[in-house]
Formats: sequence, structure tokens, C-alpha cells
Amino acid sequence: MNLSEKDKSFVWHPFDIYNSENIIIKKGSGVYLHTKDGRKILDGISSWWVNLHGHRNTKISKAINKQLRYLEHVIFAGFSHEPAIKLAESLCKILPGEMQKIFFSDNGSTSTEIALKMAFQYWHNKNAKKIKVMALQGAYHGDTFGAMSVAERGGFNVPFEPYLFDVVFIPFPDHDLVLDQFEVACKSTDAGVFIYEPLVQGSAGMRMYEPKMLEKLILIAKKYDVICIADEVMTGFGRTNKLFASEFCQTKPDIICLSKGITGGYFPLGATAVNTRIAESFATKQIDKIFLHGHSYTANPLACAAANASLEILLSSESTQNRLKISENHIAFVEKIKGNPKIKNAKTLGTILALEVKNDTDTSYFNNLREFLYTEFLKRDILLRPLGNVIYVLPPYIISENQLNRIYAAIEEVLNLIE
Ligand SMILES: Cc1ncc(COP(=O)(O)O)c(C=O)c1O
Repeated sequence: MNLSEKDKSFVWHPFDIYNSENIIIKKGSGVYLHTKDGRKILDGISSWWVNLHGHRNTKISKAINKQLRYLEHVIFAGFSHEPAIKLAESLCKILPGEMQKIFFSDNGSTSTEIALKMAFQYWHNKNAKKIKVMALQGAYHGDTFGAMSVAERGGFNVPFEPYLFDVVFIPFPDHDLVLDQFEVACKSTDAGVFIYEPLVQGSAGMRMYEPKMLEKLILIAKKYDVICIADEVMTGFGRTNKLFASEFCQTKPDIICLSKGITGGYFPLGATAVNTRIAESFATKQIDKIFLHGHSYTANPLACAAANASLEILLSSESTQNRLKISENHIAFVEKIKGNPKIKNAKTLGTILALEVKNDTDTSYFNNLREFLYTEFLKRDILLRPLGNVIYVLPPYIISENQLNRIYAAIEEVLNLIE
């Protein structure tokens, strides 16, 4: 059996369609993925939104090599280490909302799962029956059970619906009526938690809403003492041109979930940040009131070393300039493409570009244009993975103007092929 045949035979991939072909990648460098058979594919989505600084960044690789001389892993209960301490301190300093403590885990789903559990236990510790959870229609927070419960029902979650807990879903906040509906939900004495993706619902097709709407939602939640959880798994670490999307609002969340870009694409790592209010509700030696939760790879030292190096790059003026340049290019391309008869909607925020393509089926992940678009881009050696009929670009921050233009040109070319 060759490698592809072995892959088909032994490996179960995420969102695997039976017997589908996977491209074997031998090497990554900068914005490119090099295939085993010599192709060079431009990674226009930062490999599922994680590789902020491209592939095999020298600084991050060096930091990991250095860390390898000291410690690869240690149990994180009863023990600690410098890379995790440094990372937690840095995150608390740069996160909006005066975050006080960081709880590490290993992916985006666990970071939201942990945020929910912390919020639920916060109320439990106070003997308050504030068990009602509110989320936004179209939300995606991961594939574990808590995360699925607070996400859009239907689609991916159908087989699991009988096992998901009840949630009040608020319409997508693109009109003022949503605020009244949200206030009604928050007013009831059992309202306890509100979870949301700030400003951009990634998996729902990079759906964007205004900071002023989010501000109003958070203000309402705070008025009724509802804990606010910002899921910044996708929007965090510079994606929206602010370091975190929550910075667009004056009023800040109580908990922030992070993952994806945190290590620059080197290791799985999740982080759940909490403010003083949440942290202090667990400040007890009573065993039934502490947070009894943990993962084996929590705060893996190599992952933390990678994250510290990634953060340093992210905060450099070079990376900040690069992000601004991407956003200027995206804005110019939106202006150009929005009149295209194949485009229903074109939007951009920071380094995120999203184009909703017209066709006779509703906009959704399951829209039949997905396969066509994905294949056509790959034929041009460009990795874009449309969310149904929504083409989006979420490039590594090191992408050059020429490389961006190559993506834009491919998009126009592929749009022309649509009947
Ligand atoms: C907003 C958001 N939250 C959570 C997740 C889940 O992250 P992971 O795939 O690392 O479990 C994702 C993944 O796309 C996401 O976009």
C-alpha cells in the first residue's frame, strides 16, 4: 500500500467523507504547504485558522528547541513551570477585561467547555439557581457536549440533540428587536450565562455583526448579573486587527476562551481566562467548591514555549503592520468584488474576508457550492475551504501582497465559472 492508501485504510479524518482523497503534505514553509508529489499549495486559511505566522516559523521553532533541553511535559496538578507562568502572566496583561487567571487545556472546544463549567459552578458555589444559558443562533463553540449544546442546533449536531442541555437561543444580533428578546431572557431570575463569538460567527460563514450591538447585549447581561463568556477561539490573537475582538466594546466579558492561533499552529493548546469575580468565587479550600477539572496535557511546556514565542511575534510592529496591510487589501478587494453579479454579500473585518456567493440554495455549510469551490481553488494550488457558499480568506499574517492578489484573482476566476 502506498501512503495515500494507508491513509484511507487506517486514518479517520475530521469531517471525513467515506473514501475521500487526502492530500499528503510533506513540508510547510511560510504560507506554503508542499505536497509529497511536488505541489506547492498556498494556505489561505492558516490551516484552520491556527498558523498565524505561517508554517515553520524560525523563532517559534527555536523556542521549542530551547524548551526541549529542559522539560517536555510535567503533570500540571501540584507542579508548574516557567513557560506556563510566563504565558498566563502575558495573557492576563494583554487580554481585555482585567483577566486575573488562566486555566489551560488543549483545544478550542475544551476552552469553551471549561468556561461553561466554571460559570455553572460559579452559581452553584453561591447556591443561586441561575441555570439558564443564552447563546446566539448560528453559534459554533466546538464539538464536545457542552460546546454543542450552546451551538446552532441541526446540521452537525442532529444525532446528539437528545443529549444536549436546554439553551435559549437569541436571533443573530443584526437588528434592534434582538435586544428586547435578549432582555426578556435575561430578566428571569434563573438567567445565569451568556456565551457568544464576539463580532464574527466563524463557522456560521464568517457572519459579522456590529460592536455597538455586542456592547448592548453585554450591558443587558451585566444589568441582570448574567456571566458573559466571549469565545475568542477564532477572533483572538489579531484576527480582527485588534488583539482580541472584545476590545471593540467598552464593556468586557467575565470569561474569555482562547485556542487556535495561540501557539502559532505548533501545538494544541486551549486557555480559559477569568476575571477576578470568577476567580475569587473558587478561592476556597473546600473540596466541593474548587474546580474539579483537568486534562493530562494541560499547559504542556512545549506548547507554552511556542505560545510565548508566537505572542512575541504577534506583538511586534512588523506583525502589526502586516495585519494592517492585509486588512487594507481585503477592504480594496471587497470594494472591487461587491458589484460582481455572483456575489450576494462581501464583508471584511481585519484579516478576515468573507464572500457569500449567490446560488439557488440557502446559505449554509451544506450548500452544494462548497465542493465545487473547494476543488476549483485546489486545482489552482490554493487552499480555501469555503463554508458552503461562503468563500473566506483568513491568511497567515506573513502573506505578501502578491500572494494575496493571487488568491483574489483565483476567486474572481472561480466565480466566473459558476453558471
Ligand atoms: C469560535 C470557536 N469556538 C470553538 C471552536 C472549537 O475549537 P477546536 O476545533 O480547537 O476544538 C472553534 C473551531 O472552529 C471556533 O471557531
